[in-house]
Amino acid sequence: MSETEALHTRLVGEIEAATDLDAIEALRVATLGKAGSVTGLLKTLGGMSPEQRQDEGPRIHALREAVTAAIAARKAALEGAALEAKLAGEKLDMTLPAVATPAGSIHPVSQVMDELAEIFADMGFAVATGPEIEDDWRNFTALNIPETHPARAMHDTFYFPDRDEEDRAMLLRTHTSPVQIRTMMSQEPPIRIIAPGRVYRSDSDATHTPMFHQVEGLVIDRGIHMGHLKWTLETFLKAYFERDDIVLRLRPSYFPFTEPSAEVDVGYKQEKGRRIVGGNGDDEGHAWMELLGSGMVNRRVIANCGLDPDVWQGFAFGVGVDRLAMLKYGMDDLRAFFDGDLRWLSHYGFGALSVPTLSGGISA
Ligand code: DAH
Repeated sequence: MSETEALHTRLVGEIEAATDLDAIEALRVATLGKAGSVTGLLKTLGGMSPEQRQDEGPRIHALREAVTAAIAARKAALEGAALEAKLAGEKLDMTLPAVATPAGSIHPVSQVMDELAEIFADMGFAVATGPEIEDDWRNFTALNIPETHPARAMHDTFYFPDRDEEDRAMLLRTHTSPVQIRTMMSQEPPIRIIAPGRVYRSDSDATHTPMFHQVEGLVIDRGIHMGHLKWTLETFLKAYFERDDIVLRLRPSYFPFTEPSAEVDVGYKQEKGRRIVGGNGDDEGHAWMELLGSGMVNRRVIANCGLDPDVWQGFAFGVGVDRLAMLKYGMDDLRAFFDGDLRWLSHYGFGALSVPTLSGGISA
């Protein structure tokens, strides 16, 4: 056996016996490195006679290849073993019982909005949305509330210091009514939408928070009248409160964007300090409570959106979601809705899987 062959056997044996990655790296430097033994042998080829080189050349090249391959193989094996050991150490027993159960729940406001979407979807309404940062044209002017109108002052509006690209004042929308404008300007009638969302007013006490929630309703079609409005609201409130004895009273009122306008009261009675919706407000022990604003969409609003009011009519309504939630689920302080207190949330919250459906019971 030649010297080269002896070296071949020894080196490959040492590589295969290496027990860690550091040892492999040391062997690589000692053999294939600049001053390594195999590198040294390769250099001797230059000084050999052609016959000697023909004889030794293939052996030395084979040695280099064998050492390179042995190092790569051993390195891969050691790395694989290290990974196996790491995985074994990190093993999770999925059959163990959980230490804690997840505590998340659905906020009553989200739940009520889902309930409303479900009820109105059944009547053919789509859900529309608009931005919370609005311009004063959509929030006021297009809704027939001109600059000088006292209703602007009544809305306690949060304005931004800057104006938008169209030089309109920017504000946090004070109601969901601008979604009426956005919808009429972007969709062809017939239109049937509800628009739930956040609204903002600079106002704060037990029944007012600077941010609260409304749902807007809008129907635009041919030949729409107040009868459609009353039926829709009655059907909605019966489904929402899950009782048939809901009695409504439409009281003449004024909103710039509807003509005629009606405030809708619902009959209720007081029970254990709680308002229970249902029954006729004129009956003994009952009273009327104002619930929402509504009316026939003002011709000027329809025209502002580029539609012909001689062809298209409709009704609209707006209702406070937080108010609806308080009435149905019995909370008495609106501020608690936005405190983020986990005790309140776990008491009034809803399970993530109890999705409201008409068939399963809206609040089941
Ligand atoms: N936007 C009104 C408010 O925030 C509520 C309202 C009243 C909406 C009458 C309507 C409506 O669509 O027809 O006070």
